[in-house]
Amino acid sequence: MSRIAYVNGQYVPRRHAAVHIEDRGYQFSDGVYEVCEVREGRLVDQRRHIERLVRSLGELRIKLPMPLSALNVVLHEVVARNRIKNGIVYVQVTRGVARRDHPFPPPSTKPAIVVTANALDAAKAETMAAEGVAVITLPDNRWERVDIKAIALLPNILAKQAAREQGAREAWYVDKENRITEGSSSNAWIVTHDGKVVTRQADHGILKGITRAVVIDVLRAQGLELEERAFTVEEAYAAREAFLTSASQLVMPVIRINDRPVGNGAPGLVSAALRRDFHRYAGLS
Ligand code: PDD
Repeated sequence: MSRIAYVNGQYVPRRHAAVHIEDRGYQFSDGVYEVCEVREGRLVDQRRHIERLVRSLGELRIKLPMPLSALNVVLHEVVARNRIKNGIVYVQVTRGVARRDHPFPPPSTKPAIVVTANALDAAKAETMAAEGVAVITLPDNRWERVDIKAIALLPNILAKQAAREQGAREAWYVDKENRITEGSSSNAWIVTHDGKVVTRQADHGILKGITRAVVIDVLRAQGLELEERAFTVEEAYAAREAFLTSASQLVMPVIRINDRPVGNGAPGLVSAALRRDFHRYAGLS
């Protein structure tokens, strides 16, 4: 079966799928994206992902490439045509194709859109969640508007690579006050010894994760206490549990931070319960 991508109005085999060399996404990273989990062929929390896409586009003054109802059809169609049961759907919108020049192109320039879908190995993810992952910490060297889900991800890929080279799954960024902001592609959480679940407040300094929002609903339903505030690296070392969240990893227990074990060095009960109940609270479409 050939894999299919949606590119600017057409469904095309992936091997022929291409964008213009003067696409501003290619030239300037002038665009935004979303990643939405696919579960049993359905989209998880699509509404909130689309709302965030619309917000990111608005912040960068990029037009919507198509009405939201049409975008909804395209997302489902790409999942269906690729027969994705479990995985992710990716959508990217850029400011369009124009002669390379920094200011915005003429208003008539159409935004460009690409949608792809990929299967993920659910069993492998469960094994990883049962074992837990390691993270490293790095200075947060990104711009001040990381609340916008921009495709410009150079600091993120360098951080992720540094993590992988040190045998870790993720890099947690640390601000100038020695407080953790978030991961290179996920949000960061700890559970304190008195059972409070802590994650940084969603201001311009982190991406407001959709998984984060659902996990907040889950933990409230479980009767846990949430603190939305910054926490230091030392607090994370001393935490009872730590975990990270993202659409592709859901709730992933963190068992090591910079080679120091978190808690007893094994995934904690709170992380496991949040992961277990996640899909009861996430929307499906
Ligand atoms: N990453 N923070 C950053 C910097 C991210 O890139 C992501 C998501 C998150 C979590 O957001 P959500 O829960 O909505 O997935 C937080 C996606 C999955 C990615 O880049 O592949």
